[in-house]
Amino acid sequence: MTKGSIAIARSVAEVRRRVAAWRAAGERVGLVPTMGALHAGHMALVAAARQNCRRAVASIFVNPKQFGPREDFSSYPRPEADDLAKLTEAGADLAFMPAVAEIYPEEFATTISVAGPSDGLCGAHRPGHFDGVATIVAKLLIQAAPDAAFFGEKDYQQLMVVRRMARDLDLPVEIVGVPTVREPDGLALSSRNVYLSPDERRIAPNLHRVMREAAGQIAGGAAPDPVLRRQIDELNGLGLRVEYLELRDATTLAPLADTPRTPARLLAAVHLGRTRLIDNVAVATT
Ligand code: PAJ
Repeated sequence: MTKGSIAIARSVAEVRRRVAAWRAAGERVGLVPTMGALHAGHMALVAAARQNCRRAVASIFVNPKQFGPREDFSSYPRPEADDLAKLTEAGADLAFMPAVAEIYPEEFATTISVAGPSDGLCGAHRPGHFDGVATIVAKLLIQAAPDAAFFGEKDYQQLMVVRRMARDLDLPVEIVGVPTVREPDGLALSSRNVYLSPDERRIAPNLHRVMREAAGQIAGGAAPDPVLRRQIDELNGLGLRVEYLELRDATTLAPLADTPRTPARLLAAVHLGRTRLIDNVAVATT
């Protein structure tokens, strides 16, 4: 059976009108914010939205405010036709694809800054990044006004920033986290994996392996510090240059120095050639 092509909204007024009509008809609406270059990780979010809601809306917007001056905003992949085909195939109801000027008109002057979960980790190494994320996600949630919005655990710190922001601003939306989708060898799917050379692609899955080993040792009662120091040395030795590898409280992201007793998360960022990879794993607690 061939599926028709998906509806597209390019203006805020249009996405608002369509979502409002569904909600007025009593239909629950889910939003999946993305920057496009869609892969199976994004599609898991669309599937979760479809399972949880009657209507699924995906936004595709490469958000300039969350890229640093030396980051890949202009070269970020933008395969629009492929993305629309994937959303159609997945049964999404609407793609919201605004232009930059629709989102950030010239006089735009507001920034949303979420302290706490933005501190440290990627927040320390990408100044302004989470302000850019919080600002665009708040705007998308206000524009589309969905009942629920879906975010991947792949970007765990982002998920915690968005949750905090939605609570602090009393946004009437449920924030749903979706587990990380991985390649069979453990590498987390990412739009940036296309930057990896074949050699780098072979090395990359060591990140998840080393993190899983560390999480297992810490869950087994080993003191976190020496475990993390050993794993950082191993990663650096493999050519995965470690930006950070840290143990944090799973909800507040407060640093943890001792064997955790409440849910904890191990989070990492590494550089492999010109590609920055991030990953995170749960640390089981007794
Ligand atoms: P983007 O990197 O396109 O990711 C969109 C959503 O897909 C995010 O919630 C991200 O966590 C999720 N995702 C990416 N890879 C995944 C994987 N392997 N498994 C599960 N989920 C995955 O994250 C952003 O865009 C932007 O910061 C955005 C939230 C859209 C704001 O601009």
